[in-house]
Amino acid sequence: MKNQYLDGFDYEAIHARARDVIDHPKRLKKSAVEKYLRHFETKCAGSKRTIEEAATLLPGGIQHNLANNHPFALNITKGDGAYLYDVDGNRYIDFLNAAGVTILGNNYPPIREKVIETLNSAGYLTGLYHEYEYELARLIHKYYPSVEKFRMLGSGTEACIIAIRLARAFSGKKYIVKIQGCYHGWSDQMVYDITAIGTKGKQAVGIPEECVMYTQAVMPNDIDALERQFIANENEGGTAAFIVEACGQDSGALPTTREYHKRVRELCTKYNVLLIYDEVVTAFRIGMSGAQGYFGTKPDITVFGKIIAGGFPSAGGVGGRGDILELLAAGFSYKGTLKVLVGGTLTANPISCVAGITAITELERTGAHEKMAYAADRFIHDLVDLSNKYEIPALIFNQQSILHIDLCGLQHITSFGVSPDDAAGKRTEANQALQEYAMALAAEGLIVAGACKTYMNLQTVDVMDQALEIYERVFSQYE
Ligand SMILES: Cc1ncc(COP(=O)(O)O)c(C=O)c1O
Repeated sequence: MKNQYLDGFDYEAIHARARDVIDHPKRLKKSAVEKYLRHFETKCAGSKRTIEEAATLLPGGIQHNLANNHPFALNITKGDGAYLYDVDGNRYIDFLNAAGVTILGNNYPPIREKVIETLNSAGYLTGLYHEYEYELARLIHKYYPSVEKFRMLGSGTEACIIAIRLARAFSGKKYIVKIQGCYHGWSDQMVYDITAIGTKGKQAVGIPEECVMYTQAVMPNDIDALERQFIANENEGGTAAFIVEACGQDSGALPTTREYHKRVRELCTKYNVLLIYDEVVTAFRIGMSGAQGYFGTKPDITVFGKIIAGGFPSAGGVGGRGDILELLAAGFSYKGTLKVLVGGTLTANPISCVAGITAITELERTGAHEKMAYAADRFIHDLVDLSNKYEIPALIFNQQSILHIDLCGLQHITSFGVSPDDAAGKRTEANQALQEYAMALAAEGLIVAGACKTYMNLQTVDVMDQALEIYERVFSQYE
């Protein structure tokens, strides 16, 4: 069966295609794998030496979950626009972009210059108010009208923690419902049914079972299952919130549909459940107004991360209805009776704020989303043709500048009702194939996340033909 161009939000079509990809996976030829391993040994010797040294102190020698480290991680010494450079002087097109953060390009000059200017004037931290906090909140409110109030936090994980705490405090209800397989950071209560559908508490190593007692997960795009869960919870303490990864599991690998979002909003209103959109990845990536702008929906609470701090630390934030967010009011003079505890010594510092402000204004000024979406659509069409030319069953689609290029159906294996235990073998094999694929692309000059999703940045728009040639060199060595 030939690969087709798939609409990135057409869950049914993507899921249907996944069956064939899972049943007929192709692998790189052994000779190609050996060639690329030799490339790493000879051309990336500096990375090998320094990563081995790092592993004496850093567990595994690497501290970033999405970095491919097969056969070893690369030591990156320079980022510039569309490219990354390693310690051995090799150049790579960057399709990782720090897991979707550096959307305007590596070391983007306007952000760098504004940060330096701010360092030279305000310094880096005072623990007191700086007007950039208001300016960032104003911009977020401008593009996300559902965000009547906003508070900055240290990371997406922290923002998810406080979003569910707020929901419980405001509603007085108990359960948090999520979509199976979706990721909302790594806090105790959210490590439930993540990475693959139906895994329940499997990844909750070091987390007492009681921590996820009130976390539940339903199948993606199954509105009836969600309603049944809300009804079942009614007399058991109620559902405080339904939290959704706004484009679906793994940055949209298993996308949620427009119709689903519409029905979810209606259902949450009907059962008086707060709707939380986790837009850590999608905010300012799926257009200026994120997934909620794309779907035309209005969550009660939105979780932000990544792009809102322009690539600088303390990239997290929570926003939403004023009556809910008011529970986070800080400072000694607060007079309310109900207060939700939140903290963060380094949060909302002037550097993160000015980097976020500059990123947002530059995204608008440059028309970045339209340019990336156009280039991404073209690239994905061409890549589908390439996969057919080399007869590789594949799931290839995009949601704007998030590209999904999956030659093994990784995220869909458990969604065909295969139990996580039975799926384990298939997933292990798929992961091995994926590591070889990421290694091959790197050896040819392109870095992807150690997963099937990749993220473009604005500067990569100009090197998409180069990227396509790299994919062709790799695809031509599949058997
Ligand atoms: C959808 C989603 N939510 C939450 C997080 C956690 O964000 P952070 O890594 O900043 O803690 C991530 C991280 O990738 C994410 O993709």
